[in-house]
Amino acid sequence: MKMWSGRFREPLDSHFEEWQRSFPFDYKLLRYEIAASQAHAQALQAAGIITQSEFAQINAALEEINKSSGHVADFFHDPEAEDVHHFVEKKLVALIGETGKKLHSGRSRNEQIATDLRLFIRDTIDHLRSLLADLLDALLERAEEVKTSVMPAYTHLQRAEPVLTAHWLLAYFEMFWRDGERLLDCRERANECPLGSGAVAGATLPLDRELVSHALGFARPTANSMDATSDRDFAIEFVNTVSLLGIHLSRWAEEFILFATQEYGFITLPQAYSTGSSAMPQKQNPDSLELIRGKAARTFGNQVALLTAVKGLPLAYNKDLQELQEPLFEAASTAGHCLKIAAGFMRQVTFNRERMQSACESGFMNAMAAATYLARRGVPFRQAHEAVAQAVQKCIALECELEQLALHELHEFSPAFELDIYEHLKMQAVLACHDVPGGTAPHHVQQALKVAREKLATMQEAHGTHA
Ligand code: ARG
Repeated sequence: MKMWSGRFREPLDSHFEEWQRSFPFDYKLLRYEIAASQAHAQALQAAGIITQSEFAQINAALEEINKSSGHVADFFHDPEAEDVHHFVEKKLVALIGETGKKLHSGRSRNEQIATDLRLFIRDTIDHLRSLLADLLDALLERAEEVKTSVMPAYTHLQRAEPVLTAHWLLAYFEMFWRDGERLLDCRERANECPLGSGAVAGATLPLDRELVSHALGFARPTANSMDATSDRDFAIEFVNTVSLLGIHLSRWAEEFILFATQEYGFITLPQAYSTGSSAMPQKQNPDSLELIRGKAARTFGNQVALLTAVKGLPLAYNKDLQELQEPLFEAASTAGHCLKIAAGFMRQVTFNRERMQSACESGFMNAMAAATYLARRGVPFRQAHEAVAQAVQKCIALECELEQLALHELHEFSPAFELDIYEHLKMQAVLACHDVPGGTAPHHVQQALKVAREKLATMQEAHGTHA
């Protein structure tokens, strides 16, 4: 029997009936529905609507439903349940009879679904943050391990300047760290309790909203019943945040795919995260990375679905809102899988350090350092740039590097070159001249590694994921 069948004389069209149900996907919210129902039952008892023993009965039955959900076969099989709210009520009535029917006093599914979704997002954020902490840990471990290794940094995908490999890895650390911060920020705003908002205008019973909010670990009750039952900005914000995480994961994946090509050869793919080709026997393909890159597209699709579903909805609740659930769940689980795979990959990938280093030894990656050398000796940078550019042209013609030009040849371009230029053209000097916080000078990178470790330790502690 439907929760609202009293109003109807005719049965629903069977196809429509089947089609409008959300239980096939919102069953995932069961444990939040139970927690919210337990909190509501507390408020009903505090308001004197149900007795203490009725509360105890309802509470225990809800607990039992929660437990059974994990281990009773066919637990979720219920072709009649319209949604998770209906499902729990049916189970409750099946367990304790008439008393179970009292639970729905003073509440509406409109506030229930808003509450369940907030609880879901809160939990998912905690879960994703613990997975993020693991990915950050993997990045940091590798960055700590590669020590003095160098590699080319690119702009426009052209060799630009050498950097410490750790510096490159720390760039990803920063991106993923911000994703974690954004998730926290989103959690903060999602963490308000809609219960007590009723269907649209507020509960019709004198329920203690503070009590309910507190019981569910929310920071406070929501401020406006129409807003609380109808906006889903918290879900949109969550999926936006996950989309940005998807962008970072996708850029990371793309770069590792490139670096695994024979043309670059900077990394060797871990076999555990690769696949072969059914046609070409020699292939080892970076499918894990390609899928991570591809999954970002799916998440952006989820984001657009959420934005579009809410756009133009008049206040307050409309059934369109039910359409938000599947893309929301999909974005959440996609992010979780991608993070796990990325962390596993990161721990196993091999850096081909010699190859990365030798890529830094050609292509004039010390040209900017040479121009800086001149500028430090009073040559206006514009002229210094010009002088080194001409020296580069000569090297291209001679098929050599800057440091292979003799001093008298360098003097053709600027008299300010002295013998010590050769020291300044060496890799160590080129790295060291980027002597600013956030730059690749080794002592700054050491410091950045330390700071990153400290930051990560606070995150790991907060999520109980300390190694
Ligand atoms: N399954 C519904 C949803 O996800 C629950 C709320 C139903 N409310 C209603 N007035 N029909 O949005």
